[in-house]
Amino acid sequence: MIVGEKVVLREYRKEDIDDIMKWVNNPRIRKYLGFSVFPQTRQQCEDYVERQLRPGGDECAMVISLRDDPQLRYIGGVGLHRINYIHRNAELGIAIGREELLGRGLGAEAIVLMCAFGFLRLGLHKINIRHYEYNLRGAACYNKVGFVEVGRLRQNIYFNGRFYDEVYMDMLADEFFRRYPNKEHLFE
Ligand SMILES: CC(C)(COP(=O)(O)OP(=O)(O)OC[C@H]1O[C@@H](n2cnc3c(N)ncnc32)[C@H](O)[C@@H]1OP(=O)(O)O)[C@@H](O)C(=O)NCCC(=O)NCCS
Repeated sequence: MIVGEKVVLREYRKEDIDDIMKWVNNPRIRKYLGFSVFPQTRQQCEDYVERQLRPGGDECAMVISLRDDPQLRYIGGVGLHRINYIHRNAELGIAIGREELLGRGLGAEAIVLMCAFGFLRLGLHKINIRHYEYNLRGAACYNKVGFVEVGRLRQNIYFNGRFYDEVYMDMLADEFFRRYPNKEHLFE
């Protein structure tokens, strides 16, 4: 468990599946995610959560909860995916599933906590984030946290009748440590 000021990152539980199903097919959220086109079935969500119950491999995902919720219920997920222990990089993915909680700084804090885990505990050198050109809130959030745009796959995403760029951003470990010194206490 990683405890922040507004959010807590905790391990997945089987009960989280019901909360994931509440948002996962919401088109206003799904349109920003890799599974933007096809509906997600309960089985797919169960498979995802099952995978998180056996941590290890090239993925480390955690549930985002509100710190002031005693039950630490699921409001979203944040994870490091495609962790490469040779090149020491990974790709960060995040989604907050409750629309009324978007734009309140929770995503930014969850990203900082996950990056602290990646840089301090996994020893990563770099964390990448990809987003679709039309995800302006995501872009603003990642910029605010300290990610910088490093390139684009032009017109790589087809959505509602037109093509959009896929934007690549990243942050290096030393950039993170300069911006967020003294995060070791999170893991004591
Ligand atoms: C992307 C996401 C994780 C960001 O988390 P969040 O808690 O909403 O983001 P934050 O509140 O920390 O930061 C969002 C910033 O975007 C700004 N913003 C909100 N709507 C915006 C818009 N339409 N255009 C530009 N900026 C916008 C906010 O003002 C805020 O910046 P500020 O704090 O400087 O004012 C969250 O919005 C989310 O899960 N969205 C749906 C799924 C998704 O997009 N996942 C990521 C796929 S790459």
